[in-house]
Amino acid sequence: MSTQSACCMVVSAAKVCGAANESPSVKRLRLLVADKDFSFKAGQWVDFFIPGVSVVGGFSICSSPRLLEEERMIELAVKYTNHPPALWIHNQCTLDSEVAVRVGGEFFFDPQPADAPRNLVLIAGGVGINPLLSILRHAADLHREWADKGGGYEMGTIKLFYSAQNTSELLFKKNILDLVNEFPEKIVCRLHVTKQTTQISAELKPYITEGRITEKEISDHVSKETLFYICGPPPMTDFFSKQLENSRVPPEHICFEKWW
Ligand SMILES: *[C@@H]1O[C@H](CO)[C@@H](O)[C@H](O)[C@H]1NC(C)=O
Repeated sequence: MSTQSACCMVVSAAKVCGAANESPSVKRLRLLVADKDFSFKAGQWVDFFIPGVSVVGGFSICSSPRLLEEERMIELAVKYTNHPPALWIHNQCTLDSEVAVRVGGEFFFDPQPADAPRNLVLIAGGVGINPLLSILRHAADLHREWADKGGGYEMGTIKLFYSAQNTSELLFKKNILDLVNEFPEKIVCRLHVTKQTTQISAELKPYITEGRITEKEISDHVSKETLFYICGPPPMTDFFSKQLENSRVPPEHICFEKWW
């Protein structure tokens, strides 16, 4: 608690050192964070302060805590909207732009080495993938460490259910599938598209289901050892968190964040 509040107090300068389009409407930013005391837990977001813009942005971090430890970098993926911080990112931000960031949020996965192994079920809708990608990457880092050193936190299995309108709106496809291919026994993903109008590529096809994520897919994974993380539009988040409560999943095993 004291460490958490201490870390959240840090407002750090950060410099844009990478920018790319993740989809036609989502821009991905890489930021080099100046303050050595800045840290975060997988799943948290940042307040995003832009010089000359009075509205403060709030964006989930999609990179892993390891990337910050090793390279002092964080990554964000921001959807185009009329919200001034998002407009700035899409229209004015350039390499070397200077901003400031501060960590916040109670939606995170941060197991300690001695904690019991847990399975994760991650349920994402649209840009709700951002914090869940951070959690997925962190879980993969923990597993890699455990496999290499035989110590640290032991991960259970990780199942990602991710829904978007169509395959071009499914963000981070390559990053996700790279992790699935690296750890086929640990990480499984099922990508859903709800309004696909074009042909799905042969490469993606095995991972794609047409239609929404169903109750059945999720209820198949209810167990005492499983933690559920849900991030998506409010109706979707409410739907799955209620379903899990009704399935007697203890509230402390259900973590959700609404994002739109
Ligand atoms: C995918 O969905 C987005 C958002 O509705 C839309 O703008 C885009 O044209 C769609 N792309 C394809 C290939 O269907």
